[in-house]
This record gives sequence, structure tokens and C-alpha cells, in this order.
Amino acid sequence: MGLKKMALVGVLLGMTGIAWGADGAALYAAKCASCHGGKGEGSVMGPPHKGNPFLTQGNPIEIKKVIMEGRSGEAKKYPKLPGDMPKGLATSAEADDLAKFLQGDLQK
Ligand code: HEC
Repeated sequence: MGLKKMALVGVLLGMTGIAWGADGAALYAAKCASCHGGKGEGSVMGPPHKGNPFLTQGNPIEIKKVIMEGRSGEAKKYPKLPGDMPKGLATSAEADDLAKFLQGDLQK
């Protein structure tokens, strides 16, 4: 196999690795930390996740729903925060991983 082909295979393997191995922590850092803080401490852009009962005592299905559908307008729970929870940030599989991370490792 030539070098170029090997490089291509490497890239493809890397991509599937990301698709399969993407864990909640990496997704969170990439897509959520900008508003919710690197450790879930919250910011002016988003409420805290650490110690938040919606997560610590919440239902994974509800959590997944917010992650996928967002929350804005009348549904907003934090009127003091100017922004919304955007919708469409994660696929269904990603939202499962994220919900697990938010209820698990992030709370440690
Ligand atoms: C642009 C900023 C922004 C980004 C990016 C963002 N969020 Fe949010 N998120 C918010 C805001 C604002 C709210 C609160 C909306 C409200 O007033 O109810 C929120 C609410 C939530 C809630 C509900 C919290 C509660 O106490 O009810 C969860 C869960 C959540 N976000 C998860 C995520 C996840 C997971 C990601 C990454 C995929 C993410 N958010 C990315 C701004 C953001």
C-alpha cells in the first residue's frame, strides 16, 4: 500500500473512531461548554449543570428532549438568562451520551 493510501485509511479510521467512540465528555467540551461552562458551572449564557436537580434527580428522557429540541420562549425556565437553549445541537445518539455524562461524570 502506498503512503497516500495508508494516510487515507488512517483518516477514515480516525473518523469512524470519532463516530463510535465519541463520549459525552468530548461532546460536551465541543458543543456545550461555551454556554454551560467547562465543568458545568454555568455562565451568563447558560444555567449550571453541576448540582442541578434537573440533572441529578431528573429523567434521562426529559434531559434528552431538552438537548435535542432546545428550550426557548414560553418554555424558558431561566428568564434571567437572555439566551435560549438552542435546538439541534446533537443527534439522538449524541444526546444519549450527553445525558449520561451530565447525570454521571459531570456531577462527580
Ligand atoms: C448558546 C448557549 C447554549 C449552548 C451552546 C448549549 N446550551 Fe443548554 N441551555 C442554554 C440556556 C440559555 C438554557 C436555559 C433555557 C431556559 O431558560 O430554560 C439551557 C438549558 C439546558 C438544559 C436544561 C437545564 C435545566 O435546568 O432545565 C440542559 C440539560 C442543557 N441546556 C444541556 C445542553 C447540552 C447537553 C448542550 C450541548 C449539546 C447545551 N446545553 C448547549 C444555553 C446553551
